[in-house]
Amino acid sequence: MKHLLIVYSGRGGRTRAMCEAAREGVAPADAELRCLYAPDAGLDDLLWADGLLLGTPENFGYMSGLLKDFFDRTFYPAEGKSVGLPYALFISAGNDGSGAARAVERIAIGYGWKAVAEPLILKGEPDAEGLRRCRDLGEAMAAGLAAGIF
Ligand SMILES: Cc1cc2nc3c(=O)[nH]c(=O)nc-3n(C[C@H](O)[C@H](O)[C@H](O)COP(=O)(O)O)c2cc1C
Repeated sequence: MKHLLIVYSGRGGRTRAMCEAAREGVAPADAELRCLYAPDAGLDDLLWADGLLLGTPENFGYMSGLLKDFFDRTFYPAEGKSVGLPYALFISAGNDGSGAARAVERIAIGYGWKAVAEPLILKGEPDAEGLRRCRDLGEAMAAGLAAGIF
């Protein structure tokens, strides 16, 4: 059974709602899921993962401090140990989200991770359609891992 790790952050609940939707999309038969708030996630979780979903709000044109802190804590200890890890990204933004996406993508390159989907950016309060896209992302990620296509 493949392992899917979701690391999310945010303080206002929107990124968390996206995370919950992504989590709903993961069929239990496809992947074992670990879903953690960024401060609670660490190196062991990252090394456990066969696939990774990252969630962040956009703050000041960047990712959240909490997700950045996860990277700060794990980057060197994980160096060379998560190369090729398939990942995807979801972002809750007020009106943009591209700065957070670029920032995460640059760091992901440093880890050697492989993006398997375009960043999913929702602006404002997530609506039903946005949450459906999050569910689809979780489903696709888990199904892709189970099928060995990443
Ligand atoms: C300190 C701060 C900075 C923000 N900066 C941006 C920004 O640069 N671009 C943007 O689109 N939204 C920005 N926003 C809006 C948040 O990205 C948006 O409200 C998001 O949905 C919050 O997600 P959360 O509920 O998970 O915390 C900012 C919000 C805060 C509190």
